[in-house]
Amino acid sequence: MMDWTDRHCRYLHRQLSRHALLYTEMVTAPALVRGNALHLLEHDPKEHPVALQLGGSDPDELAQAARLGYQAGYDEINLNVGCPSDRVQSGTFGAVLMHEPRLVAECCSAMISAVPVDVTVKCRIGVDDQNPEIVLPEFLSRVSAAGVGRFAIHARKAWLKGLSPKENRDIPPLDYDLVLRMRGLFPALHLSINGGITTLDQAEAFLQAGLDGVMFGRAAYHQPADVLCQADRRIFGAEGPDTTPEDAVRAMLPYIERHLSQGGKLNQITRHMLGLFSGRPGARAWRRMLSEGAHLAGAGPKLVEQALARITDETDAREVANLPE
Ligand SMILES: Cc1cc2nc3c(=O)[nH]c(=O)nc-3n(C[C@H](O)[C@H](O)[C@H](O)COP(=O)(O)O)c2cc1C
Repeated sequence: MMDWTDRHCRYLHRQLSRHALLYTEMVTAPALVRGNALHLLEHDPKEHPVALQLGGSDPDELAQAARLGYQAGYDEINLNVGCPSDRVQSGTFGAVLMHEPRLVAECCSAMISAVPVDVTVKCRIGVDDQNPEIVLPEFLSRVSAAGVGRFAIHARKAWLKGLSPKENRDIPPLDYDLVLRMRGLFPALHLSINGGITTLDQAEAFLQAGLDGVMFGRAAYHQPADVLCQADRRIFGAEGPDTTPEDAVRAMLPYIERHLSQGGKLNQITRHMLGLFSGRPGARAWRRMLSEGAHLAGAGPKLVEQALARITDETDAREVANLPE
């Protein structure tokens, strides 16, 4: 997610789940190929499995960008056919490509020829006055014929005129049933559903209904522990205890140390950690200490440890008093 799921966010999320597939924010092919912005590909080896999401609509340029992503170590290259922002429309990429399944197929085919890792697509169910019942199966059919086997479908239309990107994530109604019907039409494709999903219970229900994956956006960002701490056991069948946000915070300390020693700032990392304890006693103090202190000169891991102590103190106090959390 643009401006949100940068490398620090992904590193944090990886401390919460070993198996969840993480995605970069959209990186445009022109930025990589023409702008030589290779720093956008930097990531930590511990983030794997991690997919690079590209934006673009020029097959050669996307093939080159995919190759750069593969060389940088990404496990999957994903093409964005869902982003509705004006900036993106003007470059003919993102959701507007729902109008051009042939071009998307051509782009994917070029990317597939360029890299040995999976090329996948994230799309909408349609845009503007398109009829999703017709457009979505046609899109899946054309693009899968080019060799794409895996799709993540944001189960709502994008309205390219009149709605802001933010409104386009909430106002067009969700149509989960349509995505579920694609399961029957395309049994060989790996289909993930996205849009408005906030709990692992919902995710399990979609998997039981036959889908292959569930993609979390905003909930994973705002309540990462709720979405990710139990995911390895419940979704991926892993053994062992669930992760905890406390352990994740401790695992972040050496990472923070390293970032600061390279000239980085504490708040570049902690801004992604504010929601870690949401709903827990001490969450407000945690959030306040980090948001008020992390941008100050000299702020470092000690501040994070002090904020964490507020959570553990509150939790211990509740346990002693036998109060509900
Ligand atoms: C701030 C923000 C940035 C986003 N950037 C991207 C992006 O770069 N690529 C993408 O495919 N989707 C992006 N999205 C959309 C989400 O991936 C997701 O499709 C959408 O929020 C619906 O899912 P959710 O209800 O689980 O959040 C973004 C969403 C938000 C809130």
